[in-house]
Amino acid sequence: MIDESRVLPSGVAADVALSEVRGLRSGDRPTHGGRLFAYVYDPAVPGLDELAAAAHRESAHVNGLDPTAFPSLLAMENALVGAAARVLGGGPGTTAPDVVGSVTSGGTESLILAVKTARDAHPEIAAPRIVVPSTAHAAFAKAAHYLRVAVDVVPVSPGTLRPDPAAMAAAIGPDTVLVACSAPSYAHGVVDPVAEIAAAAAEAGARCHVDACFGGWTLPYLRRLGQSVPAFDFAVPGVTSISVDLHKYAYAPKGVSVLLHRDAALRAPQYFAYADWPGYTMINPVIASTRSGGPIAAAYATVRHLGDDGYLRLAAVTRDAVAGLADAVRAVDGLRLMAEPESTVVCFTATEGGPDLFVLVDELTARGWHTQPQLTYAGLPASVHLTVTASVAPRVAEFGPDLADAVAAARTAGPVSLPPELTALATSLTPDALTPELVAGLAAGLGLGAGDAPTPDRMAVVNTLLDAAPPAVRERLLVEFVGLLQHPRWRVDD
Ligand SMILES: Cc1ncc(COP(=O)(O)O)c(C=O)c1O
Repeated sequence: MIDESRVLPSGVAADVALSEVRGLRSGDRPTHGGRLFAYVYDPAVPGLDELAAAAHRESAHVNGLDPTAFPSLLAMENALVGAAARVLGGGPGTTAPDVVGSVTSGGTESLILAVKTARDAHPEIAAPRIVVPSTAHAAFAKAAHYLRVAVDVVPVSPGTLRPDPAAMAAAIGPDTVLVACSAPSYAHGVVDPVAEIAAAAAEAGARCHVDACFGGWTLPYLRRLGQSVPAFDFAVPGVTSISVDLHKYAYAPKGVSVLLHRDAALRAPQYFAYADWPGYTMINPVIASTRSGGPIAAAYATVRHLGDDGYLRLAAVTRDAVAGLADAVRAVDGLRLMAEPESTVVCFTATEGGPDLFVLVDELTARGWHTQPQLTYAGLPASVHLTVTASVAPRVAEFGPDLADAVAAARTAGPVSLPPELTALATSLTPDALTPELVAGLAAGLGLGAGDAPTPDRMAVVNTLLDAAPPAVRERLLVEFVGLLQHPRWRVDD
């Protein structure tokens, strides 16, 4: 295929370069076709990809660095923020008429900025803290790590998978700048008790961010379709900011999320301005300075094309797909739903004596279904996560028989048995004891990182090893494994 070992080979014809990209892409998971339950949000709307690609091409070289030079981008950004505000209970005629916002590159950036904005609103707090449920997205931990903010994690109930609002309230202290909740959580798809948590935050004088990155563009439509959805948006007093990812259920191509604030005063600390150097004066609402207009234009065209009626229709299709998949899980002996679906996630675990879930995930992959394994964590069992999009609907009838078949195969195969010394290593090590050499040896033993396929077809061994390790060792193992993958293969004669 490509000669990866050449550092910078001479140029080739355009069609050769493109065919290399296409060749590489052929090894990826299928982004379309309704059999991928993570990473990609596909509405299966004919012509939408072409429209988004054309809009992206139109604005790819436009730079969001300076909105006065490229007003097209500012106009599209304001239109997207306005649409998001409207979907999430803000704008004229609502209880939150003054909602403002910014377009960011994704959910993680929106959450980092929500934390930064809350932190910078309180320069007098020397050691700021945030309160999050244990199911809050990992990006809050990343934000806290980047911004030197401490995190107080409130466990969720193993039964409801939600935090107790009283426990959230009790975790708020004088240094708390932000309290977070999810609508819904990514892992299990349940909506936190936003109204109670926001009330507690408001009473303590802290901000409350609702992470609706995943569900902010579906929950309001599901509610309009008659589904019971608890209040989670700007209609809830005390909610100060909300994030929603357009590259998830607004079905825009990757690179677009919206961070909304209830009013401009709350947003003010989000900006970074700098004039103390000899170059152009810099004013950035978001983390990136130079930003491509491509993703924003693609999102704008997508939202304009699908429109309110389109999203309502897609939500109905997705709701039916969720119901069908949940029925398929209920019908199989040895599996149970982690929670009754209330959004667009189906998450299941194994019952006592049920199949090994990591082997089951591999068996599903072998049958063309790409699901996402979730490791055991703080009293919560390992589980299998399905993000359901509209494209899944035509496939639902095929899923049940394949799931039953995969469960039978996983039962026959049994759990993977790791060599005892490997389990002992994973459970007894501290992260610091994991040297790169040790991990390289481990990776080689597990068939990772070598050859054309950097990860093996079957991941149960890796997942079982990770599952045996505490989170700090898991993190270190992952960093070292990915470090091994991210390495050009130098050739000395280049
Ligand atoms: C609830 C939630 N918040 C934040 C994120 C982070 O989004 P991104 O991957 O776009 O950075 C995700 C991603 O799945 C999510 O589900």
